Amino acid sequence: MLRRPRRNRKSESIRKLVSEHRVSADDLIMPLFIVDGINHSEVINSLPVARRMSLDFLLDEIKECVHYGLHTFILFPKIPDSKKDKTASYSYDPDNFYLKAATEIKSSFPDITLISDVAMDPYSIDGHDGLVYNGIIENDETLEILCKMSLAQAKAGFDILGPSDMMDHRVQAIRDHLDKNNYKDTGIMSYTAKYSSAFYGPFRDALDSAPIDDPDIPPHKKSYQMDPANSTEALIEAEMDMIEGADYLMVKPALHYLDIIKSLKDNFALPIAAYHVSGECAMLIAACQNKWLEYEKVMPETLLSIKRAGADAIITYFAKEYLKLSNTT
Ligand code: PBG
Repeated sequence: MLRRPRRNRKSESIRKLVSEHRVSADDLIMPLFIVDGINHSEVINSLPVARRMSLDFLLDEIKECVHYGLHTFILFPKIPDSKKDKTASYSYDPDNFYLKAATEIKSSFPDITLISDVAMDPYSIDGHDGLVYNGIIENDETLEILCKMSLAQAKAGFDILGPSDMMDHRVQAIRDHLDKNNYKDTGIMSYTAKYSSAFYGPFRDALDSAPIDDPDIPPHKKSYQMDPANSTEALIEAEMDMIEGADYLMVKPALHYLDIIKSLKDNFALPIAAYHVSGECAMLIAACQNKWLEYEKVMPETLLSIKRAGADAIITYFAKEYLKLSNTT
């Protein structure tokens, strides 16, 4: 036997020497949910690792994350119903608490990278990522709203914008609009391959952003998010985003779409981000709470699998917990 792969697994030292992948703080992006007001820190039942926080609590949370080495955050707003309308107009209102919070976060922590969410759904009475008109999502009209939202976010100080809506050609529309207004250095992390997944449930609980999801009442998120049965379509989306000026390509969800992460990594010379979504975290937490799985082991293994598939950056609700754990082991 000339080849004995077990020789490279002989000792801890050799195993470390030949180890190919490792998840570090630099790979992780921490999602944060913000609510208006002060002194709020609310539990999200279906996602016990995350909380909905007002800015005061959020600044403390960021400070703790920074202490553990995290430096990149993605911020999502929970918008009160009274601010929602058909056209998501509050999303670019200069008085919007989400925009004001971004400015304050960046002035308190100038060295961190702050990523936004560009989508109509938190602000829309229809709960959709696009403008609903006669039961249809109007792509091109939505782009105009996304452009206004993007410029407001760039002005507020977000470093990178995260269009999560899946409208066609939104990267180009946003890039042009930012450039015209002299925000040439604001980046775009495009949700390139965002699937119409059932694993977003806890996130929609967190933000109260579930669409009116009745199969008899169109439209459905399936009319813009990708079909979980498809993979070649992801290549078309990636090519468009690349040509249109995206700085990062994202795959979402992550764990159930590792093949897509790998395929984008192999085919495109852009950094690949993967969104380990709320439902994927929740199922792991539930199994661990039942003592069916060991949290300290399965959680790091999960993040490692996403990294190994080719993700350069991983958005995960476990970001802080992972680093806390690595500090103790
Ligand atoms: C939509 C958006 C969603 C998530 C991030 N941005 C949900 C959706 O499409 O309904 C989900 C993230 C998660 O489940 O963790 N703007």
